[in-house]
Amino acid sequence: MEEGLVWRFVMALVYVFPAYVANGAPVVAVRLIGTTHPLDFGRKFFDGRRLLGDGKTVEGLVSALSAGILTGVLLWLASPNSFSSVMEPVVLSVGAVLGDVAGSFLKRRAGIERGAPVPVLDQLGFLVTALLLCWAVFGIPRWVDPVTLLLVIAFTGVLHLATNAGAYLLNLKDRWY
Ligand code: CTP
Ligand code: MG
Repeated sequence: MEEGLVWRFVMALVYVFPAYVANGAPVVAVRLIGTTHPLDFGRKFFDGRRLLGDGKTVEGLVSALSAGILTGVLLWLASPNSFSSVMEPVVLSVGAVLGDVAGSFLKRRAGIERGAPVPVLDQLGFLVTALLLCWAVFGIPRWVDPVTLLLVIAFTGVLHLATNAGAYLLNLKDRWY
């Protein structure tokens, strides 16, 4: 790899890290907390299917936002130049949560049961939503170019599958994907 590319990839990983934490935190938090309350409060949409389903909980949402924002603020303190302001990692965390919830909404509308896999959407929906929301608010960051972006997307897909498999082996999840 050319040095500029390595550096941009590292900058990209620092940038997206709060979104990763926001996406992963609920799996751990829900196991630690035990009792959970569905984010849609069990309500159904016009199509008679659940609005979001039991895979999206209030506890999961709160843990995602708390962990993502805390990580983002710490990263910003450690490396302020990685973000245009402390609000940027906050918006990334919010975007990751919105993307995750929107993904479940779309899955339920398509009649796909909670936890059933939709490749690409499951692994990358949170990231794409977080990036688009963040870029709409703060502009496109310095590290972005087509190759680095593609690398980050590929890396995220592999990391998502690997961490989910790890969570399954640790008994945090019922399914390996
Ligand atoms: N989770 C949660 N609240 C959230 C997001 C996730 O409680 N807002 C927890 C749930 O226990 C969920 C797990 O994290 O089962 C994994 O999340 P995800 O894969 O997004 O949910 P699925 O169960 O696969 O449900 P869906 O089909 O709606 O994506
Ligand atoms: Mg899932």
